[in-house]
Amino acid sequence: MVKFVKVPPAHVRYVPASDELASKLSAEDVEQVAEIFHTPLTGAYTWNYRESDKTLRKLYKLGKERNWNADFDVDWNKTYPHTSSPMVEGGENPYETWPSFANLSDKEKLAFGWHSHAWTMSQFLHGEQGALLVSSQLTSCAPTYDGKLYAASQTFDEARHVEVFGRYLTDKVGVMYPVNRHLKALLDKILTDPRWDLKFIGMQLIIESLALAAFHVQKAIAADPLLRDILELVTRDEARHVAFGVTYMEQFLKSLAPNEIEERAQFAFEACRVMRERIVPTDVFEHHGFDVEEGRRRFLAAGQMDSFRNLLFTRIMPNLNKVGLLTAAVRPKYEELGLMAFAGLPNDGEINWAEFDKPLPGYVAAAE
Ligand SMILES: [Fe+2]
Ligand SMILES: [Fe+2]
Repeated sequence: MVKFVKVPPAHVRYVPASDELASKLSAEDVEQVAEIFHTPLTGAYTWNYRESDKTLRKLYKLGKERNWNADFDVDWNKTYPHTSSPMVEGGENPYETWPSFANLSDKEKLAFGWHSHAWTMSQFLHGEQGALLVSSQLTSCAPTYDGKLYAASQTFDEARHVEVFGRYLTDKVGVMYPVNRHLKALLDKILTDPRWDLKFIGMQLIIESLALAAFHVQKAIAADPLLRDILELVTRDEARHVAFGVTYMEQFLKSLAPNEIEERAQFAFEACRVMRERIVPTDVFEHHGFDVEEGRRRFLAAGQMDSFRNLLFTRIMPNLNKVGLLTAAVRPKYEELGLMAFAGLPNDGEINWAEFDKPLPGYVAAAE
């Protein structure tokens, strides 16, 4: 049964694991919630079936060769207790001095930690769905043969990413947060804009570069070995997607007039500003009855969170620089956010082919 809605769900859901009894499912669990969007898509056929870009074709071939399957390449039997923190020991806690947090019992603090984790994982999941929808649009819109093949292979990658994060949240976390409004606003803009290259910039250069950095951070701080395995597999694909984005956009933008490039540079900046806000887990504060504005202020003021936020931009900035979207007009705006310092770091157009060609980690589930 499908229920059509005008806005995404706004409440936290407790999701029963798929191996739990069907009797535990509520009507809401079996109901499919769909939110309609309209898009004026400008598609393109390609009548040239000859390979024209060696880098794109090599990325496409690697994607096929190093494909993984969540049913066999992930050991879903691995367990991690909810009586332990989902984060590795020793990390700093930005809420330590916040009375609303300090007054919680140890048990409540642990529950808050799991909710924060569920929120992060939920945003990964919703972002992956966004990537699935956008890459399927790009398959139609990309004007070249190599671009279409790659976008199609990425669409299948994103389907598997939605699958693994969805399964992890359902079977291992049990709590699902709604999509963060900043992430949703950017996804809405990307999905409904008629210009394919803006979709491309928003998804391949901004959201995916940020996701790639966020997955690396999460891999370092996640205590659950199963989650680290999942992130390892997803990160391999994302690294290819971002390399595709940088390579394709660098070539395309060279064909645009300066005023058209400027328009895209402004769009990229706006997207970065929105993504910077998306990192604050205000939905978790709200759910726990905390003062949302105070929580936001504390989160943004905490020194380590500042470096964490900035760390997430260490891939976006050099990639925007590489494709030519850090124009003289937008540089001062990035400067104001303290992000220009990252522009000179290595970019994802400098492909490490040996890394991309690494065999899969090696776990193979026993045949049933
Ligand atoms: Fe993805
Ligand atoms: Fe991706």
